[in-house]
Amino acid sequence: MNHLAVVGAQWGDEGKGKVVDLLSENFDVVARFQGGPNAGHTVTFGGRRHALHHVPSGIFREHVRCVIGNGMVIDLGKLLEEIDGLRAVGVPLEGRLFLSDRAHVILPVMRQLDALSETAVGVGQRIGTTQRGIGPAYQSKAARFGLRVADLADRESLVASVGRILAGPVGRWVRESGAEIGTAASIADEVLGHAERLRPFVADTALLLNDWMDAGMRALFEGAQGTLLDLDHGCYPFVTSSTTVAGGLCGGLGVAPTQVGGVLGVFKAYATRVGGGPMPTELDDGPDGMGERLRRRGREYGTTTGRPRRCGWFDGVAGWYATRINRFDAACVTLLDVLDDFDEILVCSGYRIDGEVVRAFPAGLSRAVRVEPVYEAIPGWREDLTGARAWSDLPAAALRYLDRLGEILGTEVAMVGVGPDREQSIVRPGSWMARELGV
Ligand code: GDP
Ligand code: IMO
Ligand code: MG
Repeated sequence: MNHLAVVGAQWGDEGKGKVVDLLSENFDVVARFQGGPNAGHTVTFGGRRHALHHVPSGIFREHVRCVIGNGMVIDLGKLLEEIDGLRAVGVPLEGRLFLSDRAHVILPVMRQLDALSETAVGVGQRIGTTQRGIGPAYQSKAARFGLRVADLADRESLVASVGRILAGPVGRWVRESGAEIGTAASIADEVLGHAERLRPFVADTALLLNDWMDAGMRALFEGAQGTLLDLDHGCYPFVTSSTTVAGGLCGGLGVAPTQVGGVLGVFKAYATRVGGGPMPTELDDGPDGMGERLRRRGREYGTTTGRPRRCGWFDGVAGWYATRINRFDAACVTLLDVLDDFDEILVCSGYRIDGEVVRAFPAGLSRAVRVEPVYEAIPGWREDLTGARAWSDLPAAALRYLDRLGEILGTEVAMVGVGPDREQSIVRPGSWMARELGV
């Protein structure tokens, strides 16, 4: 009965929401440890598609408690919209949803700064953020003038704290651009209005989580974004502002590393990325090209921003690197069905930079943009996989593809996704995942 982490192994949108929703049937608690409304996690069942941004993807299982951890940054208004949306479809939240009193708050001025920072630089230098204020919120946290959920009780001190943010670098940059930033009092009143409605959910979640684990409850830690977007291990500076790798859950939840019994890496069967920065296997090959075919078949448009995602072949070098950093016990390969009608599928199994073969994702941007992917071709299966429900339903060519990915990654593919629905996932019999789930 291990506590497990589920993290993104590529550039986000690997299908973490779907995997967490499925696995959470076997867990008592699901906790998010980083990110905020930049995340868009999709859960599909019963003919409905739900997009989650702050709320953990275990929320649709009534026995599961969900934690919005201290490592997250919260847009209070957006979180309330999410809560209202869940209530509207009959999801009970009382006594099930817990918001950390140590989580940081995203103020409107932080969203303004996020947008401004993007337009202040040339197109090629733009990170392509989700413009949700994530960077400025984490920046304020690290600079120690951020605002935490626990600080939202007393109006007088809140007005003073907001005033400090408006007078500090975040407010100053926005004001200097000529934008209207509001007064400390008006912002504080709006925030207090939101805080009042959120109060029933606020808790010291680190203590609760540890109590629950001591009482024998089983926890699942849900990552957001992906390893190549990690602040340290991603393609800096084209990254998000939090620790997206499995190690981030300890700080982001107040859970000791000794409590984490396993890590599942979620990979797409190919590669996608939204926003700027290096993507070695990108297929930027026009309206009739493979990239567009992947985008169309995979419906590759952002869950949070609706932007078209950049698409390309599976990047085994980036994947191997993610497997090392996170020490995945196994990989889950999602969206395998998107590859159903390709005669041949390419996999990048090496990088060449200036003629030299490298095995890890390069740290320096100047090297990362010079990567030439080394591809191997694997025969496609040309068969509809969306109806497959057992490992034995998968055609031999699909199994060969999965096994080759496992070899390149250095970890077993223990689960696959063959469609967006909760029913369309298959666990490999006898695998680590099957043992963890007792199936
Ligand atoms: P997340 O951010 O990692 O939770 O992923 P997103 O929800 O942003 O993006 C994944 C998209 O792929 C969503 O639209 C899912 O409904 C969809 N999806 C997940 N797994 C599968 C799968 O196995 N096959 C197909 N066709 N779609 C899937
Ligand atoms: P989920 O959890 C994909 C990307 C943005 C941009 C960079 C920085 O759904 O997988 P930010 O707004 O975080 O400052 O943007 O990170 N990004 C994501 N890409 N999935 C996500 O979340 C993402 N969250 C941020 O596109 O390139
Ligand atoms: Mg997403």
